[in-house]
Amino acid sequence: MSNTTYNDTLKGVILAGGLGTRLYPLTKVTSKHLLPVGNEPMVFHTVRQLTDAGIKDILIVTNPSHVDGFVRALGSGKEYGCDFTYRVQEEAKGIAHALALAEGFAAGGSTVVMLGDNIFESSIRQVVMDFKKQQTGARVLLKQVDDPERFGVANFDGDKIVSIEEKPENPKSNFAVVGVYIYDSSVFEIIRTIEPSQRGEYEITSVNNVYIERGQLSYTFLQGEWIDAGTFDSLADAHRIILSRKE
Ligand code: DAU
Repeated sequence: MSNTTYNDTLKGVILAGGLGTRLYPLTKVTSKHLLPVGNEPMVFHTVRQLTDAGIKDILIVTNPSHVDGFVRALGSGKEYGCDFTYRVQEEAKGIAHALALAEGFAAGGSTVVMLGDNIFESSIRQVVMDFKKQQTGARVLLKQVDDPERFGVANFDGDKIVSIEEKPENPKSNFAVVGVYIYDSSVFEIIRTIEPSQRGEYEITSVNNVYIERGQLSYTFLQGEWIDAGTFDSLADAHRIILSRKE
């Protein structure tokens, strides 16, 4: 059982480290998350999702080569009505490894964690409200997709998630786990217990599977389109969604 005491004020974490190798050579000179989507750098969309959901205290995790670009693009947060804190992930050892850097920032509270390359047509407010009712444990967002093998995929027994598989060759459902996760403070203790995967990364899916084993993972279905803009094709789709929304 978690002994977390509940604080209604959630903090935000944007994970924008990693190498973005699937977008080489664009990502040789800048971070994937600073590439244009619509008429703004990608990370602006993620920031706006958090501030729209009422989250004003935001940590940005970047890789060492591009931290200056993030500071130039985002500054203190004054312009966005929020406060930014920056941390550098020295090596791209996985999403859970990047999240571990948020422990001090979270200061014992719960966090809304967003992958900086996830672009949404609609707001993430619903999942934040749903978590506020549950108070402890974790909550993920699910979306039905045509290509589940690209993602973490939920395996169900009835309406209960019994496990999540990372990029399975033979997915047991077509419900992808979207790159937005809400965790109580026990996430940091869980990260310390997980082992790297076969590809050598500390996977966020391993963290979510521990919450499942503890009976503490719930989910919300995402409404509207969702893009993981980590490839050339999906980056082009992200442009289309954002530009059509502006029109
Ligand atoms: O987009 C949703 C998917 O994101 C989930 O369904 C998967 O379960 C999850 O593993 C993740 O898969 P990806 O293969 O798309 O993750 P990627 O390596 O592209 O990393 C996503 C973001 O996480 C990236 O924009 C920056 C951040 N990141 C990644 C790594 C590997 C870091 O901050 N540090 C890292 O070391």
